[in-house]
Amino acid sequence: MTKEAQIGVIGSGAMGSGIAQVAAMAGHNVVLYDNNVSAIEKAKTGLSATFQKLQEKGKITSAADLLNRFTFADTTQSFAGCSLIIEAIVEKLEVKKSVFGEVEQVVSSDCILASNTSSLSITSIAAACTKPERVMGLHFFNPAPLMALVEIIPAIQTTPGLITIARDLMQQWGKLPVIAKDTPGFIVNRIARPFYGEAIRIYEEGIAGIGTIDKVITETGGFRMGPFALMDYIGHDVNYVVTETVFQAFFYDPRYKPSFSQKRLLEAGWLGRKTGKGFYNYAQSAADTDYTTDINTGRGIMDRILAMLINEAVDALYLGVATVADIETAMTKGVNYPKGLLQWCDEWGAANCLAVLDGLYEEYHEDRYRASPLLRKHAAGNKKFV
Ligand SMILES: NC(=O)c1ccc[n+]([C@@H]2O[C@H](COP(=O)([O-])OP(=O)(O)OC[C@H]3O[C@@H](n4cnc5c(N)ncnc54)[C@H](O)[C@@H]3O)[C@@H](O)[C@H]2O)c1
Repeated sequence: MTKEAQIGVIGSGAMGSGIAQVAAMAGHNVVLYDNNVSAIEKAKTGLSATFQKLQEKGKITSAADLLNRFTFADTTQSFAGCSLIIEAIVEKLEVKKSVFGEVEQVVSSDCILASNTSSLSITSIAAACTKPERVMGLHFFNPAPLMALVEIIPAIQTTPGLITIARDLMQQWGKLPVIAKDTPGFIVNRIARPFYGEAIRIYEEGIAGIGTIDKVITETGGFRMGPFALMDYIGHDVNYVVTETVFQAFFYDPRYKPSFSQKRLLEAGWLGRKTGKGFYNYAQSAADTDYTTDINTGRGIMDRILAMLINEAVDALYLGVATVADIETAMTKGVNYPKGLLQWCDEWGAANCLAVLDGLYEEYHEDRYRASPLLRKHAAGNKKFV
């Protein structure tokens, strides 16, 4: 696809306006549509301010020229000349299906239709179209202009040739594309679940407080943010809902079980930073948060969360969700992990990681702690992943 191709974006919220910005900065004319007029106005004002700032910093030559590449639309009819449409509306399957059906009536027969969904099945969205073979997932990360990773997700109906077209285009846009099988949470939102879930479990069991767990993960693990600070940052309305959706989509596999602690925060409206309160109270200073520095507690927390994360990465590889290289890229570029989890496993030793999981399995007798057969094989054969 060349720069002359016109790109359509459905939904002008946080993700849609970010994706539209990326496409325009890569040289395309962009049609940005929303069914809410005030959302379009907000996007226009936001993009204009962003381009102005980029011009002041000398990163672009003309904010006005970039803004001229946009058509702000309140009807899907404006998509008629587009070669690719990326949908970023509310995360509801029935709404997405109906919008895809509507847009398909307007666009040309070879226009590619993509969804930015975080957790819904691309195959079921494609099934709502008369030409399901032109539908795929293009999953950007927030904020889209800054995060390099894009997960490309073919539905089971997608024409294989479209994957290459999408990969080439994302590279032209300066992105790092990875290919993921159409399974719940794709790569990042599947593998990252224990970062939150296991941390909450350790806290609920009274092993350590949130301050301790966050400190261990950042100081020992080298992660930029601890799980509780990160959940508060993402917002429990988003993070809890992804966890619950992934849990249901995996037929209630206990590995992905949501927690009552986080559900209660959501019910109380304590959504995290944006409401001033979540796991942390942002009216208090960080110094008020308890933490212990007991070295054995710290090692136990780190080993337990890391073993669960590695197990998810290894199991995703085992089940063909993505390649070794794409799993490593996804976790280091999509959620900024300090190291790829498969490389981390190699350095730690598959046998050591397995010993932690088998110890947990022994202690709890829960399927949640079952080790991937591939981890077991690598431990037995002393093999490396990377
Ligand atoms: N926010 C994130 O961190 C993130 C990251 C990756 C993917 N996603 C996914 O991207 C999508 C959008 O998320 P967001 O955070 O940008 O949401 P948002 O609420 O900021 O924006 C959604 C926009 O879609 C519009 N909209 C809703 N229904 C519509 C319809 N029927 N037709 C046209 N426009 C409609 C709304 O008016 C709103 O402007 C979701 O599928 C979400 O799962 C979000």
